[in-house]
Amino acid sequence: MLSIRLADQCPDLSSVRVLLRFEGGASAAGGGGASDAAVGAALKAHRFTGDHGQIVDVALSGDRRVALVGLGKADALDANRAAAAGAALTARFLTSGAASLCVDLSERPDGLTDDLAAAFADGARLRSWRFDKYRTTLKDKEKSSLSELVLFGAEGARSAIERLTAVANGVALARELVTEPANVLYPESFVERVRPLAELGVEIEVLDEDRMRELGMGALISVTLGSEREARLLVMRWSGGAQGDKPVVFVGKGVTFDSGGISIKPGAGMEDMKWDMGGAAAVTGAMMALAGRKAKANVVGICGLVENMPDGKATRPGDVVTSMSGQTIEVINTDAEGRLVLCDALHYAQERFEPEVIVDLATLTGAMLIALGHEQAGVFSNDDDLAARLVAAGQASGDKLWRLPLGAAYDKLIDSPIADMKNVGGRAAGSITAAQFLQRFIEDGVKWAHLDIAGMVWAASAGATWDKGATGYGVRLLDRFVADVFED
Ligand code: BES
Ligand code: MN
Ligand code: ZN
Repeated sequence: MLSIRLADQCPDLSSVRVLLRFEGGASAAGGGGASDAAVGAALKAHRFTGDHGQIVDVALSGDRRVALVGLGKADALDANRAAAAGAALTARFLTSGAASLCVDLSERPDGLTDDLAAAFADGARLRSWRFDKYRTTLKDKEKSSLSELVLFGAEGARSAIERLTAVANGVALARELVTEPANVLYPESFVERVRPLAELGVEIEVLDEDRMRELGMGALISVTLGSEREARLLVMRWSGGAQGDKPVVFVGKGVTFDSGGISIKPGAGMEDMKWDMGGAAAVTGAMMALAGRKAKANVVGICGLVENMPDGKATRPGDVVTSMSGQTIEVINTDAEGRLVLCDALHYAQERFEPEVIVDLATLTGAMLIALGHEQAGVFSNDDDLAARLVAAGQASGDKLWRLPLGAAYDKLIDSPIADMKNVGGRAAGSITAAQFLQRFIEDGVKWAHLDIAGMVWAASAGATWDKGATGYGVRLLDRFVADVFED
């Protein structure tokens, strides 16, 4: 990922000077000195109007390069649109040969605040993230050439950049965890990847299978029975708030590979299930972000880490298991494993931490993609205020959420003839019955929300601030939620 640096001039070599323009604003290059005419001619030739994300790249004499970036209409510009424009810039120059981009804000258009400039730079940085670790034959021209983004004339953006840097590091960690294949990233190695967060002040605690069995986590354990990998429950604590303030607790589904188990999935697309730990990755990335920017809040992140595999020891359809709460579950379909992992993690979280609010994130149902596609995640909650605050944080962060209903009629669909409940409710309303299942493990009076992020973790094509692949969805959302709701 490229780094961001504030400077009082643009480096002159191997750097592209970047000028930002609003749609309908002064169209001249401005500040280009002797090159004004050449830049003006190029803008005209390319019909540059300052449309959001429009870019014109001009080569000047002496190896100098200038790029004009359109920000769209001034009154429509917010942090997310600024970030997307920055991302468009990166997409254009990532493999261009340029090593650095210098955004010249010394003569900026009215309305382009330091915060918006910081958001622009942040979007450029997020879009530069790549995962080339396993590509050994990349040609030089296919490799990223960009290493830094310089902001010139934006000294006032310093604190915003610092804050955004912590969050971007969290997003990068989440993307890395999501991208790693399941032979490399499994419960134990996930935990090892996260250990360095201790250096930021995150307390890390790990429960192994023996401990989880002792605690009675029969639902979570039932998922791992067919796997050669040991399950783990990862607990991360950031205590930046007042002592004694109840924590916000985030719980993530961390199925490091979901084959479906005995109810095995079809082969086509099964490789996608390496990212069935996207909820755990978002929670972990958010903990890194919060610790990195020293958030003034008490936050706990809990990840239920397991691999779901078929085997002679695996759970069978029809088996009945006992959760830590004491409630029994008939496992109709071993592919509905996420809820089995989460129900014990949620119970543990409530018993141990008495949360102020509890929010779980999970790639829980394929039905979620059918309902909302890849534009927004679903949010289910027993508390209107909590739901509204999450939706607002989604709007502000760009990690969007849409609320879906819960209700007694849906809840009935998971009643079982032999146990307290079954783990699937049938084809209809699949995302809702999954949420109803989780709600059965939420104690009275506890404010809870469930985010089904199945459609958001992995992108088939490039989006606002990401390339195709892992998006890092959820990190910016949780960071914003904590900032707006618990730090004011
Ligand atoms: N991890 C999957 C859900 C999923 C599917 C996430 C596609 C992302 C993309 C989950 O464990 C699962 O298999 N759910 C089943 C539930 C069904 C058996 C009730 C599903 O959605 O098909
Ligand atoms: Mn599954
Ligand atoms: Zn799953």
